[in-house]
Amino acid sequence: MATSSFLHPSFSVILLLAVLLAPQPRIHARAAHTWDWSIRLPSDRSISDSGGGVRPEKSEAGTTWALLVAGSSGYGNYRHQADVCHAYQLLRRGGLKEENIVVMMHDDIAYNPLNPRQGIIINHPQGQDVYAGVPWDYTGKHVTTRNLYAVLLGNKTAVEGGSGKVIDSKSDDRIFIYYSDHGGPGVLGMPNMPYLYAADFIEVLKQKHASNSYKEMIIYVEACESGSIFEGLMPEDLNIYATTASNAEESSWGTYCPGTDPSPPSEFFTCLGDLYSVAWMEDSETHDLRAETVGDQYEVVKMRTSNRNTYNAGSHVMEFGDKNVKPEKLYLYHGFDPTNANGTENSLRLSMQLGVVNQRDADILFLWKMYEKLEERSNKKKETLKEIAEIMMHRAHLDGSINHIGNLLFGSEIGSSILEAVRPSGKALVDDWECLKSMVRVFESHCGSLTQYGMKHMRAFANICNEGISRDIMEEACCDACRSYNSAMWSPFVTGYSA
Ligand SMILES: *[C@@H]1O[C@H](CO)[C@@H](O)[C@H](O)[C@H]1NC(C)=O
Ligand SMILES: *[C@@H]1O[C@H](CO)[C@@H](O)[C@H](O)[C@H]1NC(C)=O
Repeated sequence: MATSSFLHPSFSVILLLAVLLAPQPRIHARAAHTWDWSIRLPSDRSISDSGGGVRPEKSEAGTTWALLVAGSSGYGNYRHQADVCHAYQLLRRGGLKEENIVVMMHDDIAYNPLNPRQGIIINHPQGQDVYAGVPWDYTGKHVTTRNLYAVLLGNKTAVEGGSGKVIDSKSDDRIFIYYSDHGGPGVLGMPNMPYLYAADFIEVLKQKHASNSYKEMIIYVEACESGSIFEGLMPEDLNIYATTASNAEESSWGTYCPGTDPSPPSEFFTCLGDLYSVAWMEDSETHDLRAETVGDQYEVVKMRTSNRNTYNAGSHVMEFGDKNVKPEKLYLYHGFDPTNANGTENSLRLSMQLGVVNQRDADILFLWKMYEKLEERSNKKKETLKEIAEIMMHRAHLDGSINHIGNLLFGSEIGSSILEAVRPSGKALVDDWECLKSMVRVFESHCGSLTQYGMKHMRAFANICNEGISRDIMEEACCDACRSYNSAMWSPFVTGYSA
């Protein structure tokens, strides 16, 4: 029962009425302080409940906006777009309006020839379709880091392609950002190059803050090493609270994967969701968000993502930024769906420990499951095996070259320990982010594209910068390490540079 949560707002409404009827400056100041902002709705949809509380029909206190981003493409990454579609449905059911939600996703899943349920995307083994109605704001080649920044800043002229919808928020508005994909130290993937670099993203948040165009913001990020996006970079005075699926040095995890428990319906050979993502969404869907706070959800998601504190196939959910946002009620960001009003902590699924797969193994798992299903001796089976071999070879090539470069730069004794060194917590991955990008470009031009797997090596490039290695020396080392390398398939000229 959510009695306390609706008695309290009703009381606040009466307080407000009293203030309006007798506007004396001193009382006004006091009352403004006790005014519970949580009764103001995220959109102008009215909330009715059986408790009969007095509720404003229209919010004068601002709108909730959301930016939902899936950073990957390809059927093997089904889960990231499934997460984002699910988030869209959740917010709509919560009363957010389509015009206030911007969705960026490649949109190559629902009608992918490999999708066993054409036109449908699910995010849970028994889940309903989450694809229907998701707006095509930015899809395909328009899902770019540039557009993400322009959308968030509300700058329509800077947007290229897509629906042109932007987060046109005002100073009283709240913003919810949710991102799901592969990542690496200091970077988040995007389906089109280049990747998102943490320092640029934080700069955009600062600009958004400077433009006085939101009241508060929460950001949820699912990706490997996602803590590194905020670690040592995120100011505490932007009215932004962020949580990430993992700390700065570990993988995040796919879930509802083939062969894990629970597994997807048998016709799916790809993971349906990600552990942190389904944790927050399934939490929001089963609680009264007028009562649950942002901080409550952090605790629940942290517990579930840690696999019940074992951290055995689980990750450390981290928090950054302004902790003053934590006591706020969640419906200010996710809206409120009356069917969840009773706040039942039901569902067996929530108490279960979920089987999970490391993000970076999930795409190989997908190809392998596909391979297993294909008809013996078919051409497709041979091609799939070849594709798996090529990917594994490129991965080995990346790992080997970076190791070799470390040895060339620092000597074989300490090369790998320098490349892998993790800075103390509270310190950003790298001091000079432009250096990091330039090292990535130098590497890719000699050794081929990093690919989503190779994002894990960002820390090596960062440490090369932190050690003060010049671009010329790096160029020599890359040239040496990848002298005999000439795979057109992984050329950055084809795929684009990731920096
Ligand atoms: C919007 O983007 C354009 C193009 O990048 C830029 O020239 C302009 O200054 C931006 N406007 C604002 C208000 O930041
Ligand atoms: C919530 O619980 C009450 C009392 O048990 C019930 O009458 C009502 O239908 C429930 N609401 C929803 C949306 O399930």
